[in-house]
Amino acid sequence: MSADPSRQLVAVADYERAATEMLDEVAFGYISGGAADEITLRDNVAAWGRLALRPRMLVGVGRVDPGVRLLGVDRPHPLLVAPTAFQRLAHADGEIAIARAAAETGTIMCVSTLASTGVATVAQAVPDGPRWFQLYAFSDRGVTRELMASAAENGYEALVVTVDRPVIGVRERELRTSIRASAGSVQAFSGDASRGVGPADYSALIDPNLRWSDIETFAADSPLPVLVKGILTAQDGRLAVAHGAAGVIVSNHGGRQLDTVLSGADALPAIADAVGDQLDVLVDGGIRRGTDILKALALGARAVLIGRPVLWGLAVGGAEGAQRVIEILLAEFENALALTGSPAAGGVDRELIMPAPWRRARQ
Ligand SMILES: Cc1cc2nc3c(=O)[nH]c(=O)nc-3n(C[C@H](O)[C@H](O)[C@H](O)COP(=O)(O)O)c2cc1C
Repeated sequence: MSADPSRQLVAVADYERAATEMLDEVAFGYISGGAADEITLRDNVAAWGRLALRPRMLVGVGRVDPGVRLLGVDRPHPLLVAPTAFQRLAHADGEIAIARAAAETGTIMCVSTLASTGVATVAQAVPDGPRWFQLYAFSDRGVTRELMASAAENGYEALVVTVDRPVIGVRERELRTSIRASAGSVQAFSGDASRGVGPADYSALIDPNLRWSDIETFAADSPLPVLVKGILTAQDGRLAVAHGAAGVIVSNHGGRQLDTVLSGADALPAIADAVGDQLDVLVDGGIRRGTDILKALALGARAVLIGRPVLWGLAVGGAEGAQRVIEILLAEFENALALTGSPAAGGVDRELIMPAPWRRARQ
């Protein structure tokens, strides 16, 4: 994108730097910020770096297979686009651009309840891409049911119920600026919010009294498999199994909810050990390299989600930028499979990793 070779965008970090320059302070703060002192936000990235890889040699890696099986469906690779609200804050093309990038790369896109562009419009604009719908359960269960039905009617393949946002976290970068944004799927239901107010205003719609019995109701009512997003303990993993979930997403909401909670990488092993044989365990938070994807699989995840990286790509280059970020991570992942002697993503296990010898020095 630039004649100066030192400015070439070859890694996710390059897109982060370029996005910082392109976005205004308000949008950049909303996208890149976290809760309170942002300790968890930083640790989400650092935690993957505390694991060292233990590569094997001479296994024949002329062809590697990055494919995984997810909710009983074969997928070309284990990378998904995480649900992020208000993608038009990053770029005018917003969700439609990310849907295009996802479709081009065989990547499942999770569309947020608070997407700038509604679920039906995204599906009509890019009919071919695989898509899941992320549900914020509203206090008004009639509206919640309409959102769920609309996702099923529009070809979304799974329901991701986010449970770590009963109330919004202390996000100081958002508090210091005034963001205006509106959510396409919610326009018809949200009264004042439909005029385009701050993201925090949508919080009033979200039910803070959601319980495990509601997960069971959603699983029974919807034709789609239900994943519970925002799990950090094995106890909650077991409850997800008991209440009919098809999967859990180990996540701390990208460090945006409660600061100093543990990272996805640190929470994952106990959850995978407890319930990994009963439902699909996915993880997100701080995935910035192909080696991070490999480490997540080694710890027991079936797949990973990326939030901010794809928004940085979108901000820098629209659909093309978002696609490039996904392609960079997939190329790095295949490179890491080959260089660790792992011919198939599905065969990766914990033998591949160990606590990094350098981790004490880093802390
Ligand atoms: C700008 C932004 C908006 C987000 N909006 C949502 C949302 O609407 N629903 C949701 O479940 N998670 C939301 N998340 C959390 C992401 O789904 C995901 O858990 C997180 O971004 C992963 O961490 P990463 O950004 O380090 O990859 C949001 C994250 C960001 C950065």
